[in-house]
Amino acid sequence: MSELAVTLTAPNGVNYSQPVGLFINNEWVNSTSGAKITSINPTDETEITSVYAADAEDVDAAVAAARAAFKNPAWRDISTTDRGKLIHRLSTLVEKHQTILATIETWDNGKPYSVALNEDVAEVVGTLAYYAGFADKIYGQVIDTSPSKLAYTIREPLGVCGQIIPWNYPLAMAAWKLGPALACGNTVVLKAAEQTPLSILYFANLIKEAGFPPGVINILNGHGKKAGAAIASHLDIDKIAFTGSTATGREIMKMAAVNMKNITLETGGKSPLLVFDDADLDQAVKWAHIGIMSNMGQICTATSRILVQEGIYEKFISAFREHVASTSKVGDPFKDDTFQGPQVTKTQYERVLSYIESGKSEGATLMAGGEPYKDVNGKGFFIAPTIFTNVKDEMRIFREEVFGPFVVISSFKTEEEALERANNTTYGLGSAVFTQDLTKAHRVARKIEAGMVWVNSSNDSDYRIPFGGVKQSGIGRELGEAGLAAYTNSKAVHVTLESAL
Ligand code: NAI
Ligand code: MG
Repeated sequence: MSELAVTLTAPNGVNYSQPVGLFINNEWVNSTSGAKITSINPTDETEITSVYAADAEDVDAAVAAARAAFKNPAWRDISTTDRGKLIHRLSTLVEKHQTILATIETWDNGKPYSVALNEDVAEVVGTLAYYAGFADKIYGQVIDTSPSKLAYTIREPLGVCGQIIPWNYPLAMAAWKLGPALACGNTVVLKAAEQTPLSILYFANLIKEAGFPPGVINILNGHGKKAGAAIASHLDIDKIAFTGSTATGREIMKMAAVNMKNITLETGGKSPLLVFDDADLDQAVKWAHIGIMSNMGQICTATSRILVQEGIYEKFISAFREHVASTSKVGDPFKDDTFQGPQVTKTQYERVLSYIESGKSEGATLMAGGEPYKDVNGKGFFIAPTIFTNVKDEMRIFREEVFGPFVVISSFKTEEEALERANNTTYGLGSAVFTQDLTKAHRVARKIEAGMVWVNSSNDSDYRIPFGGVKQSGIGRELGEAGLAAYTNSKAVHVTLESAL
């Protein structure tokens, strides 16, 4: 169907066929209402193309396809090894198409091409291969009670899973959710974020090519309040997995209550990074930069609050400012030497600028940045890397997630004070601690209220290791073996061997 794909040439010269439909039952269809979403290039604010946007009726069709596929012997009764092979084939196809996928991600999202290729797409390849390996290693247990009973558990799939994806790592977040869902034998209706609708559609073609039966994976674009809400409140969806803001996570949780969906949420953060006097200063500076300025600061686990012990506070600030100035090169994301591209959308750009105003008006010291960056092409949603120091705990910029190249730095006196202030937040996602004292490192790691602690690094997540938050940063875990728990039921079977009656 030619009208459901367009031929595009990206700014880096890559020419490819971009699907623009909804992917339901391994077919491309248009939305029943004809509604569309326009994809914008955040680097120069031009329109890339528009794609069909699902509303509730289209969600119904996708759910019906996923339900039928769940009951279809072609998927239900496939051997677990063959299920793993399909997921593995998808991983291999992503690798084969990595140039186009990374190009689309950079074009639509604004992240540097080297990051899209070597981090995002590599993450998809790795995560899918990792979960492919789990498909035939998911077992129940035999539980001894007495000679008169055989009791065992079956880890069965949940059914139809709704997956709602954010725009900061579009393909990677899809892979984090698809990998375990598919390995456990579920079927999926996945909705991409309206800010970055393109890469997932190209990926959808690879699903079909890999050989998945129709309906196992259905991919929709659509607005959160329409398609997203229709998924979250759908009576025939068994599970919802979401990554995005805490406010939306809360809404989704309410909607999911309608049929008591199983739920995993990965939401916001204001992750602390603690630098003790005895830290290796160069390492702390290097990782602190990566921890907040990578991906334009648009990372849920970004270590956006830096707390430095007073003995090295001044030294840290001048070294950090110097390092940011020399390494955070803002520019065209397709250029090799670019570290920081534009924010994903005008809305996000304005949001970050409004926090800059807030920081200034609340009296924090603006140490660097604090304004739009106009030197790339005079357009685009670029923001100069921004550092505020002398930030007080009650300031909004210390408490709220900004999601930009924007960091706040404050000093502390004692370990106790550092922990108290690090934990004084409604969030609990990532955290980092820099010290060369082994016992202090482990002591702080235990006391910090977070789903993840990096000792002497920041944000070096890995698909083999569980990822998720405590407090209002989420529910449940993704990645690692722990990620499988979110996609299976443990069914208990009691077999009477010797009847007492
Ligand atoms: P959002 O949480 O509203 O959007 C994320 C996803 O949820 C998108 O697919 C969206 O379509 C969907 N969605 C939105 N409203 C929905 C609803 N009522 N029902 C069902 N689905 C819905 O985030 P948004 O507005 O794009 O960004 C705002 C802030 O959220 C950012 O500035 C950042 O602080 C945070 N955020 C955090 C992310 C993370 O990785 N934890 C990712 C994206 C945003
Ligand atoms: Mg875009």
